Amino acid sequence: MRINLEKTCCILFFLLFISQSVLAYKRPIKSSKPCKRLVLYYHDILFNGTNTGNATSARAANATKLGDFTFGMLVVFDDPMTKDHHLLSPPVARAQGFYFYDMKSTYNAWFAYTLIFNSTKHKGTLNIMGADMMMEETRDLSVVGGTGDFFMARGIATFRTDTFQGADYFRLQMDIKLYECY
Ligand SMILES: *[C@@H]1O[C@H](CO)[C@@H](O)[C@H](O)[C@H]1NC(C)=O
Ligand SMILES: *[C@@H]1O[C@H](CO)[C@@H](O)[C@H](O)[C@H]1NC(C)=O
Ligand SMILES: *[C@@H]1O[C@H](CO)[C@@H](O)[C@H](O)[C@H]1NC(C)=O
Ligand SMILES: *[C@@H]1O[C@H](CO)[C@@H](O)[C@H](O)[C@H]1NC(C)=O
Repeated sequence: MRINLEKTCCILFFLLFISQSVLAYKRPIKSSKPCKRLVLYYHDILFNGTNTGNATSARAANATKLGDFTFGMLVVFDDPMTKDHHLLSPPVARAQGFYFYDMKSTYNAWFAYTLIFNSTKHKGTLNIMGADMMMEETRDLSVVGGTGDFFMARGIATFRTDTFQGADYFRLQMDIKLYECY
């Protein structure tokens, strides 16, 4: 009995020791101030069958008949990113990836894409993914990684819908805040 008690004590002490040392090596989260910030605008012109010259995205899978909010529709895009909200401003990056609608009771999308920078200012990529709950004023998606100038970057991309023009064009403001930079 006594031996068992000593054993238990010993194990508890050991666990405590491990957890302390793990905590000691955990880096503090510097959430207050981003190490890099980019505010860019995303322009999505959906292919409607005739606008071949202007379209930058296309439906790759149609909506299902589940609910009234295009559940299951998948759009693949290669969209320009600009510094201001003019569609014809020179793009500073491209956004390449996809989104699909994934909610039965409202419009809600899921994004996964890469921002590709290839300019004198920035060269590299940022990979972004997460839920776009379109009914919210702003939505936070995760910046899960990066390459080149954005090597190993991590952070948050905050979406805000800037405009919606019919079914074929919408614009999002993306406020990209990186909290890990190397
Ligand atoms: C597609 O978009 C173009 C440009 O916005 C427009 O002129 C055309 O009428 C549209 N076509 C259809 C089928 O909606
Ligand atoms: C399509 O492109 C032309 C120029 O190439 C532009 O003037 C026009 O506004 C564009 N239309 C749409 C709906 O984006
Ligand atoms: C999607 O459905 C429309 C009719 O609702 C059809 O014209 C179109 O070809 C379909 N597209 C795909 C990719 O299946
Ligand atoms: C990046 O830009 C350079 C110079 O404009 C060009 O030669 C190169 O092909 C571009 N790379 C990509 C991946 O677009």
